[in-house]
Order: sequence, then C-alpha cells, then structure tokens
Amino acid sequence: MSEQKRPEPKRLFMETYGCQMNVYDSERMRDVLTPLGYAITEKPDDADLVILNTCHIREKATDKVYSEIGRLRAHKERRAAEGKGMTITIAGCVAQAEGEEIMRRAPEVDLVVGPQAYHKLPELIARASRKMGERLAADFTAQEKFDALPARAPDGVTAFLSIQEGCDKFCTFCVVPYTRGAEYSRPLTDVVAEARALADRGVREITLLGQNVNAYHGVGPRGAASFTELLDALAQVDGIKRIRYTTSHPIEMTDELIAMHGSEAKLMPYLHLPVQSGSDRILKAMNRKHDGAFYRDIITRLRAVRPDIALSTDFIVGFPGEKEREFEETMQLVRDVGFAAAYSFKYSARPGTPAASMLGQVSEEAKTERLNQLLALLSEQQRAFNQAQVERVLPVLVVGNGRKPGQKQGRTPYAQGVHFEDSQAQSGDIVPVRILAATQGSLTGVRQTLTPEAA
Ligand code: SAH
Ligand code: SF4
Ligand code: F3S
Repeated sequence: MSEQKRPEPKRLFMETYGCQMNVYDSERMRDVLTPLGYAITEKPDDADLVILNTCHIREKATDKVYSEIGRLRAHKERRAAEGKGMTITIAGCVAQAEGEEIMRRAPEVDLVVGPQAYHKLPELIARASRKMGERLAADFTAQEKFDALPARAPDGVTAFLSIQEGCDKFCTFCVVPYTRGAEYSRPLTDVVAEARALADRGVREITLLGQNVNAYHGVGPRGAASFTELLDALAQVDGIKRIRYTTSHPIEMTDELIAMHGSEAKLMPYLHLPVQSGSDRILKAMNRKHDGAFYRDIITRLRAVRPDIALSTDFIVGFPGEKEREFEETMQLVRDVGFAAAYSFKYSARPGTPAASMLGQVSEEAKTERLNQLLALLSEQQRAFNQAQVERVLPVLVVGNGRKPGQKQGRTPYAQGVHFEDSQAQSGDIVPVRILAATQGSLTGVRQTLTPEAA
C-alpha cells in the first residue's frame, strides 16, 4: 500500500480591525477554515488566503483597508510570478458598506463577504480560487450564520460570546445600523449551549458581545427572554466564573439589570457604557435618546448597589455644531462621574449618515484641541483608578504565564491586566493578588495566601 501524501497545509493570513464583534467573527472564520486545512500564518507573503476583517466606523478605519490592500498587491504579484495563488478576501463592515467600490478600486481583491455570510466562506473561497481573477460578492443574507458555524475552539480561559448583532438605534453619526443591519438576538438556549461548550474547554470568563448587548431579547423557554434572564441562565453554567458584557446603551440599562450588578457575584464590577457627550443639545442632535441627567442617574444607581464598579465610556468630540461651552459640559461630566477607562474619538463624517450633512461641521483644529484636553483628563482619571488598587488584595483570574519565569498574567475584576509573582497558579484559577504598583496601562503584584477581599 502506498503511503498517502499529506496535503500541504494552506496558509491563512488574517487581519482584524474595529470592535470586539470583529475579533469574535475572525475567530469564527478561522474555526470554519481550519477543517479545510488552513493554518494561520503571521506572514502575508506566505499566504494562500488573506482575510481582512474590516471596520467602517470612522474614515481612518476605512482608509486603512485600502492601504493594506495596496501592500498585499505586491505579495500577490510576487507569488503569481512563482506560480502560486493568493486569494484576497475583504470581510467585515467595509465589505458590507462598500463592496462594489472595493471591487472597482481594487482589482486584486477576489472576494468580498459581509458579516452575515461567514458560514458560507468555504464555498465562496473555493469558487473564487477556482476561477482565478473572477471576483465574487457574497449576497448578504440575514441570519442562519450562527446556526451554520462549527463548534468553538477557544485558546484561553477568557472568550467572547456574541449574543446580539446589529442596531436599531440610528445615532445620527453612526454606520453600524447600515453595516450590521437590524437588531437580532440569538435564542437563549443557543447562547447557554455555547457558554457550556466554552466552559468544558476551560473558559472561565465570558464577555457577551453585541452592538447593543443589553437590548438582548432572544427567544427563551417562555417567550422573549430579557438580558437579565440570559445573565441568570449563564450564571448557572458550571465553570463560568466571571461574566462581562459590552457594548451597552444607556437607555437599555433596566432596573433589573442595575439591581443585578449588586446581586450577581459572577457579574464583574466593570461596565462600558458609552455616553458620547455631556451636552444635552448635542446628545439630542446625535439621537442618543438620553440626556446627561439620565446617564448620571444610572451611574448613581449602579454605585448604590455596587460601590466599587469601574466605569468606562466612549466620547465623540467635535460633533457638528458642538460649541466650546458644549464641549466644556462633556469635560464636566467626566469630572463628575470619574471613569476608569474611556475611548475618545474625533467626529468623523460618514457618508449616508444624517450627521454628515448637518450644518456647523467643526474644524479639524478645534477637534484636535478638544480631544487632547479630554484625553489629558481621562488619562489622569485612569491613572488614579489604577493607583487606587495599590495595596489592595484582588481576586485575579490567571490567564497565562508572565514575561519572566515565576510570573503570571491575570485580570482583575475591573478588567485591568496584572503581572504578578507566582509560580504555582494555573490558568483559569482565581487567586488573591496584592497589588504593589500601578501605571496608566497595567498593574503589578504578588500572590497572597490570604483570602481576597472581594469575590
Ligand atoms: N454599539 C456601540 C459601539 C458603536 S461604535 C455603542 O452604541 O456605543 C464605537 C464608538 O465609536 C461609539 O461609541 C462612538 O463613540 C464611536 N463612533 C461611532 N461613529 C463615529 C463617528 N462617525 N465618528 C467618530 N466616532 C464614532
Ligand atoms: Fe451606533 Fe448608536 Fe447603534 Fe451604538 S447605539 S451602534 S453608536 S447607532
Ligand atoms: Fe467597526 Fe463594524 Fe465594529 S464598523 S466598530 S467593525 S460593527
């Protein structure tokens, strides 16, 4: 019997831009392609298949895609000269929003596939590489994606779990309702089954994902299940010790959800709750459906049930019509609330969104000036928050080895990264760590034998 020759592994080079939904999707695309013999390569010139999972949220994010395609062109030409192929695939939100334009502008792109069609990748790639040179756009079907995707293969003790896609909020600056479509929630039993499978493979902390994660309303055993019902069900999954969720919208912070932050020990004391602006007039123009007082009230109520909760948020500076004094209201909100972390962006006009054609577009100069002021205040707050952990003993989830022997890496309840001295702990353990020092970005500490002060 002749020995069977193993097929050459095919190399996949993948780049992910944008939000955590894309990180999750990239992982799922990899899961779909692994059974076909694809293995990840870090070198684009090595790749039989390239996938750029793109983001459309700001102009810069979109521009990056075209410059990356330009870089790949040279690799593709070099490989072609050696008689090898390279299938270039553009996935994600730019694919969804500008599929046609990509095909027109970038002839080296073989395949354009939107976020709802990843389960069809094997078929699409086979077609694209057979018919070299012919470019295909996947027809962007709505759902069934989750059902059709294979089992997860997580490679750590923390994992993302997508529970909700799309957005019906239509903030006037935002492309997400157009790139990801209408709000869709996965059935509760599917989410719980995925969490169980993750736990069986060693995952201890899950982060539930959705563009509007707390608007979750999936089919449950008794009709539509709310987000808190889902959290309740997930908290009962053995092995899952910590639960986080992102990104939330303030108007979906129900009384039940706020109360749960005080009663459910597995729900971590960290919340990313984008506010965007501190000015009521700007919030109205943004169609955010909440004002500053509403936001502050949520924070007060959260802190009443969970005093140590760490808050994170998003800001946009220089929204059309934003006056200096309105920006000052944003600064005041930051001073009043106090954030442990934040993401701040200069407003970027996105084609097709209502804000792009509003009067009073703010100059680039003023946006930069405001962003710098805001960033200075926020990094001061972040440093202060991290500094406040020094000398505390925190329950830290071990996620892997540290840089040096005898060192481990972990995550605090407040989602801070921590490097600490400990040679015994295993990934997935939760161990007490005394925090010794803090920088703006991370913490260092040492393992304690005492019980941690909080679970
Ligand atoms: N679904 C989430 C995330 C949306 S995108 C939410 O509702 O918060 C992440 C962040 O990008 C937003 O919170 C917003 O701060 C920022 N963003 C969105 N569109 C933008 C634009 N046109 N210009 C600048 N920042 C933008
Ligand atoms: Fe965009 Fe607003 Fe929806 Fe968030 S809530 S995804 S900012 S439209
Ligand atoms: Fe970007 Fe799409 Fe996420 S536009 S922020 S990748 S939903």
